[in-house]
Amino acid sequence: MTFMNILVTGGAGFIGSHTCVALMQAGHQVIVADNLSNSKAETIDKIKQITGYDVTFYRVDVTEEETVDDIFAKHSIDGIIHFAGFKAVGESVEKPLAYYYNNIVSTMVLAKVSKKYNVNRFVFSSSATVYGENEVPFVETMELLPTTNPYGETKAISERILTDVSKSNPDFSVSLLRYFNPVGAHESGLIGEAPTGIPNNLMPYVTQVAKRKLDKLRVYGNDYPTVDGTGVRDYIHVMDLAEGHVAALNNLTEGVHIYNLGTGQGTSVLQLVKAFEEVNNIEVPYEIVERRPGDIAKCYADVSKARRELNWIAQRGIAEMCRDAWRFNTFAD
Ligand code: UD1
Repeated sequence: MTFMNILVTGGAGFIGSHTCVALMQAGHQVIVADNLSNSKAETIDKIKQITGYDVTFYRVDVTEEETVDDIFAKHSIDGIIHFAGFKAVGESVEKPLAYYYNNIVSTMVLAKVSKKYNVNRFVFSSSATVYGENEVPFVETMELLPTTNPYGETKAISERILTDVSKSNPDFSVSLLRYFNPVGAHESGLIGEAPTGIPNNLMPYVTQVAKRKLDKLRVYGNDYPTVDGTGVRDYIHVMDLAEGHVAALNNLTEGVHIYNLGTGQGTSVLQLVKAFEEVNNIEVPYEIVERRPGDIAKCYADVSKARRELNWIAQRGIAEMCRDAWRFNTFAD
């Protein structure tokens, strides 16, 4: 295997930072471009602390073409993993233009500058949200159904842009990675998910309740056609997800390749809460409330393609996800 110089946009964020660790542990070098709009510079130091290697960091906005061009001019880049983007579903409904601009222009700028510098490996951070209300398990060959929000649309549109760029230039190799529900943290407890304000997603909310920063979890509906009536999701440990990126990069061949990165296992909200309480020996009070608009009953992956083509499979279970999410939270603040 050859070691590469990888530009990681959004490398200070939740999934980006864990992927930097996995890349460096696999022998690659990492250049991070992140505007820190939803992350902290300290995370870069933590990545260095975990790996023992240096990271080149640029605090920049990847929608700015000249800035991105400067980075490509300075470094011999072999590949890009593009994470940088806005990701709050509710906010995307309030601020559609900000989401379309930020998430799509960044993809276009990176694809354009890649072409100029003849960088032909591009891994894109997509989401299972692009499947919409398809039947589970979601398979990569499914026709994509409309998503319910601008955030989801930015992922679907970016996938299409990169697919068209690859068609026009067969040397341009693209991997579109559709993430299911990333949770957990690096086992060191040094990096993890630290959303600002009141969290939207389940695991960060659960950890805040466990810390007594929020009074109780509101479970959005218990009348779905699922095992216990609560929503079912495919939670994946963020380090498994990070290692999935390394596998995608190392196995990248010409053309466009789409992979689900999940575990293939569905877990309900109440099952996750119970696991969290048991593993961490802490109570998480909850109440059942109305369904959240836009939520689907079940979302989990068919993971056979990634296993077959990338030789990658998630290794960590729900207990490790709950343990590591809590460890990071008890280390932080
Ligand atoms: C959400 C986004 C999805 C995005 C993903 C990123 C929505 C509608 N979808 O997925 O587009 O890619 O995050 O990780 O926001 N739940 C509660 N109480 C809470 C929070 C969540 O009961 O306070 C339930 C939800 O109803 C759902 C499950 O927990 O059944 C998971 O929710 P969440 O963590 O927000 O993820 P998704 O909705 O799957």
